[in-house]
Amino acid sequence: MGADEFPHMRFHPDHTLADAQAELTRALAEARMETPQRDARFLLQGLLGIDGAQLMSGSARILGAAAPLIEDAARRRIAHEPVSRILGRREFYGREFIVTPDVLDPRPDTEAVVELALDLLKQRGLLGRELSIADIGTGSGILIVTLLAELPNARGIATDISPAALAVASRNAEAHGLADRVRFVATSSLDGCPGPFDLVVSNPPYISTGEIATLERDVKDYDPLLALDGGQDGLGIYRKIARNSLDLQRPFLTVLEVGATQADAVEGIFSAVGGQPVGRRRDLGGHPRAVALEIHL
Ligand SMILES: C[S@@+](CC[C@H](N)C(=O)[O-])C[C@H]1O[C@@H](n2cnc3c(N)ncnc32)[C@H](O)[C@@H]1O
Repeated sequence: MGADEFPHMRFHPDHTLADAQAELTRALAEARMETPQRDARFLLQGLLGIDGAQLMSGSARILGAAAPLIEDAARRRIAHEPVSRILGRREFYGREFIVTPDVLDPRPDTEAVVELALDLLKQRGLLGRELSIADIGTGSGILIVTLLAELPNARGIATDISPAALAVASRNAEAHGLADRVRFVATSSLDGCPGPFDLVVSNPPYISTGEIATLERDVKDYDPLLALDGGQDGLGIYRKIARNSLDLQRPFLTVLEVGATQADAVEGIFSAVGGQPVGRRRDLGGHPRAVALEIHL
């Protein structure tokens, strides 16, 4: 959208919350954003610190000093900045996480990794045990923080090659009162982290380099390239994690997020190091999004 086509918007301090919601929804729709109503609702709730019920019941509330904040947020969203990046936070598995330009905007699909890991631990009667967990490519820390919060007797390490991402993950661990149960390590995959681990999880970068230019603007203009680029075929990081698995004490369970068409290929890569597929979980779109492997001797 060029400057001339930028939708005209008016958010005046005397306007009500209902006026602002209608105006924001209209402007986002005019700018052809995919989910204008939803975005308007989440932006207003986040900016004003209210929930959905308060948004409805407070429709007569006067905007006052919030008016320019709403206008700024509308302009950023129309430039395709994700809602969570505008608000600086995102909900994942029922908990709130800080997000910054240094980390991938956490996706709801990644909850499949948590669900599959917890299901398999439950099946094996391991939920209450003193588990050791590793999260590779932790980004904002959603996976390690969620798993440690769900498994009160677990401890973990979380790695990333981005020190800036590790700083965000560390803030999230602190915010959830888990800092004493996790160590953040700046390294590639699990290099220099001997374990032993009972569970290894990862949502690594898995988009092939050639595909990056074709991604939606919300993704390619805002998520860090380090969080997206999985090399020539998108599978390079899985091969590296599989190589690392050879150095770890076994058996252990690994649960990995994969791209929509990658499940078979990733299971194949891990079979070569003694991995046996033990489960898959589909995402909301019906694609296999998480695969689990038990790595044996
Ligand atoms: C797709 S993001 C996932 C972030 C987070 N786990 C999530 O699910 O939202 C991948 C993360 O892996 C990191 N990364 C990329 N290559 C890596 C490597 N070789 N070793 C460790 N981390 C890596 C990136 O910096 C990024 O934070």
